[in-house]
Amino acid sequence: MGRITFGADESDVEACAPRFPALVFAEQWIRHPLRMASIVPSGRQLAELVVDQLPAPCARVVELGAGTGAFTRILLARGIRPENLLVVEIDQRLAALLRTEFSRVRVACADARQLDRLVRKSDAFTAGELDAVVSGIGMLTMRQALRAEILRAAFAVLGNGGCFVQFTYGPVSPVGARTLAALGLQGRRAGIALRNFPPASVFVYRRA
Ligand SMILES: C[S@@+](CC[C@H](N)C(=O)[O-])C[C@H]1O[C@@H](n2cnc3c(N)ncnc32)[C@H](O)[C@@H]1O
Repeated sequence: MGRITFGADESDVEACAPRFPALVFAEQWIRHPLRMASIVPSGRQLAELVVDQLPAPCARVVELGAGTGAFTRILLARGIRPENLLVVEIDQRLAALLRTEFSRVRVACADARQLDRLVRKSDAFTAGELDAVVSGIGMLTMRQALRAEILRAAFAVLGNGGCFVQFTYGPVSPVGARTLAALGLQGRRAGIALRNFPPASVFVYRRA
């Protein structure tokens, strides 16, 4: 797993102050098609459906795989305070782009599987006090073991009533029933965003 950088990473900011985020997204898709999982960023309908699943009340949120910030924008618009949002993005160029657009949000350039470590390292977040983890990671292109690792890291820092919101292309949960049972979780499909390209479903996972 790679190193973690919080805030501006001196080496990449200048090279990565992009004028066209969707173009950067497509370029990164050419380089890392499996990791990016889509050639275009998530649409508004999907972002709204994901953020609709946040519990009430909801203060502290982590967003995984934020890409160009389609979910980040809606999270902030719905009242999540920038200082209560931790964004994790593995791609350096996209992380730099997110830092430029959301200067008050903590952006970590890191692997989502390190989330528990990240939260322990951060002075703003405490393990066990997170209300929700919202994931923009395209899990279908990952092995089941990696999907499980991400969920395990997230539930290590989520509070008792906390939930993990995951989008996926297609109607089926990207985390299988056996994996969920092994992790002590249950899932439900919350809805489908047909106007997204490609159409996507949203799943919510909680402790069983
Ligand atoms: C489908 S795209 C993001 C969509 C995002 N909602 C948007 O509209 O831009 C998936 C994102 O997850 C990131 N990603 C993939 N694997 C990751 C991992 N293990 N940890 C953190 N980010 C990851 C990719 O770099 C990419 O930006």
